[in-house]
Amino acid sequence: MSGPLIEIDDVIAGYTPGVPILNGVNLELAPGELVGIIGPNGAGKSTMLKALFGLIPITSGGVRYKGEDISKLKAHELVERGIGYVPQNNNVFPSLTVEENLEMGLYLRPERMRDRMSVVGDMFPRLAERMKQRAGSLSGGERQMLAMGRALMMEPEVLLLDEPSAGLSPALQDEAFIRTKQINRSGVGIVMVEQNASRCLQICDRGYVLDSGRNAYTDTGANLLKDPKVIELYLGTLTKAH
Ligand SMILES: Nc1ncnc2c1ncn2[C@@H]1O[C@H](COP(=O)(O)OP(=O)(O)O)[C@@H](O)[C@H]1O
Ligand SMILES: [Mg+2]
Repeated sequence: MSGPLIEIDDVIAGYTPGVPILNGVNLELAPGELVGIIGPNGAGKSTMLKALFGLIPITSGGVRYKGEDISKLKAHELVERGIGYVPQNNNVFPSLTVEENLEMGLYLRPERMRDRMSVVGDMFPRLAERMKQRAGSLSGGERQMLAMGRALMMEPEVLLLDEPSAGLSPALQDEAFIRTKQINRSGVGIVMVEQNASRCLQICDRGYVLDSGRNAYTDTGANLLKDPKVIELYLGTLTKAH
């Protein structure tokens, strides 16, 4: 396949009619790419993932997956087409076991269960050891791994991650970033939203800075990390160091 996997063109969208949160945003994801979305709290980062995943209505603009207009499709139709989404909160079923959570990730294709269980179990050995444990009894880091694992059960081509490192200890944050990179290296295109902007840009091929529902800066992760304006406004490390 040539051309981008995902294209978001001038999308206006929000939660309430007449109250746009996204004021004409753009994003592209090439096959195999890892793209990050950073920006201040309330910038519309999570909203952008929701618009992409069919969870909120799009007022105008285009959303395409492999060239197909998906702006009117529902989340389950996107999952069938190869898009996985891990929301920031409530992303596992606490009263179900690890195994049951993973099974739910593949309810559309039960014949693939054994295969996918073994692939996802190899990728997250700590989950494999805890298959019969209730998800509610897992640590925050393990729960995040389970949420990613469940999305991976369907063997998606694209994974949308909303703040995979949020609420985790520094060591577990590291693990979340390492896992994300590892999943990407296995061939899955990733769009990742992150509060931990510098860490995100370090592992991203390209980054998008969102501000007030608009694109503020777009470049390679490496270039954004050294852009004085981006540092001053969104990373803050230089200003703090002076
Ligand atoms: N479910 C919702 N209903 C109404 N407004 C919302 C909802 N979720 C978020 N918003 C609003 O949309 C704006 C962007 O929020 P969000 O996309 O969550 O920001 P970010 O993820 O960048 O921190 C904020 O002003 C927020 O209050
Ligand atoms: Mg958010």
